[in-house]
Amino acid sequence: MELNDFLKEKGTDEKLSQLIMLFSEQAGVIKEGFLSARGAADTKNVYGETQMALDKWADEVLIDALRESRLVRWIATEEQPDIIEVDGAINQFGVTIDPLDGSSLIDVNLAVGTIVGLYQGHVLEPGNTMVGALYILYGPLTTLTYTTGSGVHEFVMGEDGRFTLMQENLTIPDGKIYAPGALRKDYLPYHKQFIEQLESEGYKLRFSGSFVADVHQILHKGGLFTYPAFAGKDSGKLRLLFEGTPMGKMVAEAGGAISNGRGNLLDVKPSSVSDRTPIYVGGKREIALIESLVKGSGT
Ligand code: AHG
Ligand code: MN
Ligand code: MN
Repeated sequence: MELNDFLKEKGTDEKLSQLIMLFSEQAGVIKEGFLSARGAADTKNVYGETQMALDKWADEVLIDALRESRLVRWIATEEQPDIIEVDGAINQFGVTIDPLDGSSLIDVNLAVGTIVGLYQGHVLEPGNTMVGALYILYGPLTTLTYTTGSGVHEFVMGEDGRFTLMQENLTIPDGKIYAPGALRKDYLPYHKQFIEQLESEGYKLRFSGSFVADVHQILHKGGLFTYPAFAGKDSGKLRLLFEGTPMGKMVAEAGGAISNGRGNLLDVKPSSVSDRTPIYVGGKREIALIESLVKGSGT
C-alpha cells in the first residue's frame, strides 16, 4: 500500500498527512543530490562543525519546499542559527530538521538520513508534545519510517520515487547490539560501568557514525545507542531537537525508551534550539539500567 493511502486508512489528520507526504517527495530530490553535490562547503554550522556541500544543499531543498508549501509556521534546522517563521503559513505546525545526519559518511558512501520532528505549534517544547516524527534512511534502499502516535510504520521508495508499506507497527525486540559514541578514555564512571555490563552480557558493537542508521538498526534488532556525557562535555554531542527527540519519539512509540541518563528525554523542555544532550536510546531494559547506574553514582 502506498504511503498516501496508508495515511488515509489510518485516519491521519489531513494537514499532518500533507506534511509527511512533502518530506517523502523531497527524499527523492535529496537522493539525486548525492550524485552531484559532494565534498566540504568550507563553512561551519552553529556547532562549529564543517558543513558538507550536501548538508547545506539538503537544508535549502527542505526549507524551500516547506516555505513554498506554507504547510508549517516554524522551521528549525541543524544548519540554521535561528528558527525560521514562514510568511503566510496556513497551519500552525513547527518542524525540526536534521537535513543530513551522518554526513561525514557521504564521501565513503555509507548510510545517512534525514530526521524530522513534527509539532502542533512552536518547536521549543518538550518532545512529548510532538504530534509525530519521521526519518528517511538513504541506504541500499531508501526508507521512510514515521509515527503520528499510533504505531511506527516503515515504507520503501520504489523506482518511481513513491513509498510503499514495508512494515506496519514496528516494535523494538530484545537484542544485544550496542552503539557507543564518544572516546572510551573520556567515559564518566557510571557510563564505563554501564558499557562494561553490556559487554559482559555479550552485546556486540555496531557504531557507524550515522545516528539515524544506528538507531534504525536498534529499532529493528534491539539493544542500545548512546552518545553520553563525557569528560569535559556534560551535554555530550548530539542535539536535543534535531536528533534526540524525533528518534526518541519513534523508539518510544515502538515500545522502547530514550533517556539523558537521568530521566525521559521526551520530558525535557529545550532552552534553545541548539541544545545538546546526552542520549541513551533503545530497549526499556537498557534504559532502566543506565538510569539506575546514574542514580547510584550520586552525580
Ligand atoms: P550530523 O552528520 O548531523 O552532524 O550528525 C553526526 C552525529 C551522528 O550522526 C553520529 O552518531 C555522531 O555524530 C558521530 O559522532 P562521532 O564522529 O563523534 O563518533
Ligand atoms: Mn545529525
Ligand atoms: Mn546533520
